[in-house]
Order: sequence, then structure tokens, then C-alpha cells
Amino acid sequence: MKKNLVLTGMMGVGKSSIGQSLAKKLEMTFIDVDKIIESEESDSIQDIFKKKGENYFRMLEQRITTNQIKSTNSVIALGGGAFINDEIRKTVLKNCISFWLDLSTDFLLLRITEYKKRPLLNKPNLKETLEKIYQERKSIYALANFKINCNKISKVELVEKIATLYVSK
Ligand code: S3P
Repeated sequence: MKKNLVLTGMMGVGKSSIGQSLAKKLEMTFIDVDKIIESEESDSIQDIFKKKGENYFRMLEQRITTNQIKSTNSVIALGGGAFINDEIRKTVLKNCISFWLDLSTDFLLLRITEYKKRPLLNKPNLKETLEKIYQERKSIYALANFKINCNKISKVELVEKIATLYVSK
């Protein structure tokens, strides 16, 4: 059976939107892990962080993500920090075909409007915070099977490119 397709990368890069289009194109099921976490907890990510803290969120994220990875015929959008977790990353690298959607922090800044919904970005200096997280994570995102540069490419072209790479793998 064909492996699941996994999208990773920074907050705001478009994992959910690209994932949905890819799933439609490839006739696969789309899974947005953050949405499943919210529905299992009956709470928003923002409030989970606020009420129970980041460690609690990361525990949930590990359990729910590793569980979702077992689904079949699926395109899975991970939360931005999920691939940084050793356990999640090992499982993804073993069982899925993974794509790092990479976008410069300048473009990310333009795209992230709902930063209040993203607890890690709800800080005074958004640009500095984003840059710091990107620098800390980029070498880990780079362990994904494919790096997709999203800087100068339309969404339609991106979906086409990822779908072609996935089918040929
Ligand atoms: C996070 C990214 C968010 C969400 C949480 C933590 C991160 O997901 O899981 O706020 O650590 O990068 P998106 O990448 O979908 O925004």
C-alpha cells in the first residue's frame, strides 16, 4: 500500500490549505492534526496552551499525531512543531513520504494574520520570534524526504509539484 503523504513546516506556510488541495487531487483523505487535537480536547490550541501549558499540548500532539499516521490513503498536515518531536519524526520518516514546505520568514510574516491563535507567536516582536523559531528548526525540517521551496511559486504549481513527486516515489 502507498505510504501517507505528510506536510511539515513553519506556522503559516500553508500546510492545511495545500494539504486539502493535494488530498482532493490525489483522491486521498485530508487529516489536519491540529483540528483533531482541538476536537478531542473540545478546546482551541490557544486555550490548551493557556490552560494546560505547552508540555501538555506536546504530549497530546505526540499521541494524536502518531495515531493519525496509522490512517491509510491520507494527506496529513502536521502542526508546525510536530516534526521536531523525535518520536513523531521517527514514525513519519519510517512510514510516510514527507515534504517540508519552506518559506522565507519575510513571506511568513506577510501570511500570518491570525498570530493570536498561535501561542508561540503571541509575543511582542513577531519578526524576531518567527526568525528564532525558524533558525532553531530548519535543520530538523530538512530531514523530511523532500524540501519544497514555496517562495516564488503559486499554490496551484505547488500542489502539482508535490503530487508529481509523491506519485513518482
Ligand atoms: C505550532 C504550530 C501550530 C500549533 C501550535 C504549535 C508550532 O500549528 O500546532 O500552535 O510549534 O509551530 P500550525 O503550524 O498549523 O500553525
